[in-house]
Amino acid sequence: MKAAASSYLQAKLKNKQGLKAIYEQVTNELEQVEIILKEMTNSSNPLIVEIGNYLFRKSGKRIRPALLLLCAKLLGYKGNQDILFSALIEAIHTASLIHDDIIDNSNLRRGQLTVHAKWGPNITVLLGDYLYIKTIDQALKNSSPKILEVLTEVTSEMIEGEITEYYHSGNLELKEEEYYEIIKKKTASLFSAACQISSILAQSNQETENKLAQFGLNLGMTFQIIDDLLDFTGDEKKLGKPPLSDLREGRITLPLIFLLQNGNSHYKTKIAEYFKNKNSSESLKTEIIDIMVKNGALKYALAKAREFGERSKQIIMDFPASIYRDSLALFTDFLLNRDH
Ligand code: FPP
Ligand code: MG
Repeated sequence: MKAAASSYLQAKLKNKQGLKAIYEQVTNELEQVEIILKEMTNSSNPLIVEIGNYLFRKSGKRIRPALLLLCAKLLGYKGNQDILFSALIEAIHTASLIHDDIIDNSNLRRGQLTVHAKWGPNITVLLGDYLYIKTIDQALKNSSPKILEVLTEVTSEMIEGEITEYYHSGNLELKEEEYYEIIKKKTASLFSAACQISSILAQSNQETENKLAQFGLNLGMTFQIIDDLLDFTGDEKKLGKPPLSDLREGRITLPLIFLLQNGNSHYKTKIAEYFKNKNSSESLKTEIIDIMVKNGALKYALAKAREFGERSKQIIMDFPASIYRDSLALFTDFLLNRDH
């Protein structure tokens, strides 16, 4: 059964059904998550309703809710609060993205105009705040103090990560370890919280809770390194957002750090020149990417993403065999191989 489940899922992944195959065990729950998400912007204020409809009209990948739901099933959780908390985790993610798009000057996400590009930054900041406080309200009414604490702590971590990243924009001295710390806080922490909450709901022991939190953390690191890599290698149509946005905004990601530390000093001068004069340097941009390919910077970042991915797989494969465990293990492969 164990081998059969695993090879069945592998075959589906190969058939490019990707996430659909991984999500097969939680399809119904994910539909309910969508309903809760839409209800979060029910308001007497028509603008909140309008933006909410726009935001939740086109589905994102729903990676974090699916993780929470699959982990809950892995632990044999029989209640239905996993659905609510999956929605709340996605709501925090959505609130963070609409704020992030202002910070990153991004006008496109998931192939459509970002909220601030459509409604302006003032309304967008407030809408993000609204979504977040609705999330905390729901959590207060429905959860234990422990889950509430996980949700508030993870949000502070995300904000810290985002501020640190912004603060280091254009800092050519940023170290690899500092980069990992930033992405751990801004991205991996929410993956980790999603997995940890499933364990709190299932009332599993501390060791299991720690293991699942670590699984999520490593998976989140994989996700963000690939996200940063796709900024250099991705295709706008598939990504639903323009590539090279990080470079444009001076965000220092892993391929760039590798190049700065392992290339000759001439590269550093080129990048410094690019950051000083972004608008008039299309050819310089192409040159930097070209150098990155030749220098092995993209390869290095992929290898690091694989290392984190391998760690997440080792942790999850330590759980007893089940289709849920195999689906979770395949998440890693999907995140490593994704092109959007
Ligand atoms: C996307 O990163 C952004 C994040 C992972 C976190 C953003 C967090 C905040 C803005 C903190 C505020 C939180 C709340 C709940 C209000 P990215 O820019 O690398 O990814 P992208 O290419 O998808 O934009
Ligand atoms: Mg961004």
